[in-house]
Amino acid sequence: MKNLTDKIVLITGGNSGIGYATAKEFLENGATTIITGRRKQAIEEAAARIGGQAMVADQSKVADIEHLAEEIKRQYGKLDVLFINAGITGEASLISDAQEDNFDHVMDINLKGAYFTLSKLIPLLQDGASVIFLSSNVASMNKPQSSVYQASKAALNTIAKTAALELADRKIRVNTVSPGPTRTAVLNKSYDSQTADGIWDDLAQVLPLKKIGIPEDVAKMVVYLASDAASFITGSDFVIDGGMKIS
Ligand SMILES: NC(=O)c1ccc[n+]([C@@H]2O[C@H](COP(=O)([O-])OP(=O)(O)OC[C@H]3O[C@@H](n4cnc5c(N)ncnc54)[C@H](OP(=O)(O)O)[C@@H]3O)[C@@H](O)[C@H]2O)c1
Repeated sequence: MKNLTDKIVLITGGNSGIGYATAKEFLENGATTIITGRRKQAIEEAAARIGGQAMVADQSKVADIEHLAEEIKRQYGKLDVLFINAGITGEASLISDAQEDNFDHVMDINLKGAYFTLSKLIPLLQDGASVIFLSSNVASMNKPQSSVYQASKAALNTIAKTAALELADRKIRVNTVSPGPTRTAVLNKSYDSQTADGIWDDLAQVLPLKKIGIPEDVAKMVVYLASDAASFITGSDFVIDGGMKIS
């Protein structure tokens, strides 16, 4: 249990999966926790279930991000932890079959949205704040049919390192967390549930630990990185993937 009672935490994309589990973990450690989502009802219901605060924002839209920053400034005046989590996988496709709308959709949320979320919230970050990007182990792996998603996460990794240097003089730490397969709703947004279940089961067989991760695996790492225990860690990437990347 970490004492985070004086911390204001913002988590983008918090109505399900890793964002939701991480919000629960922060709340259990005493932090004031705001979660964002683009669907008003879903985000408000999720926040009510765990005792967090909901703010509606589509993280792919810079105007929404600016409004979010204004609202946090008005209500809290500062931010101690920024967890940039919102993301999608998009459609699986070979580069030769690429569709412009899929490219734009994935990049708008995963890359442009994440970048401007950091950019617009920097003025609110306290000296000593912690920023964590939710990347993926595939940022440094190469699997066919996932080029756009992989590229979006690889770009996040390099942005995080640059941000770590740009913000170091204010003791603001910036790190990435890179999960492997983690059982959430993420695949259900691109595939029907039978296909999604099949993908999870197949992945479990190829991972050295022979199991899929759960959102709480990632949540605990994010809370650790946000805590004072991680005060010497910046510009680093933490892979949580049951050994997938080394196999
Ligand atoms: N699960 C995995 O195996 C895995 C592995 C590596 C990395 N990741 C990354 O982990 C992050 C979280 O994914 P997850 O697995 O927890 O999936 P998830 O359950 O689908 O959660 C994604 C969250 O982001 C929200 N979101 C998506 N687009 C948004 C937008 N434009 N504005 C605001 N919120 C938005 C979703 O809201 P809606 O409900 O409205 O869509 C949802 O709350 C993503 O960045 C994903 O790429 C996941």
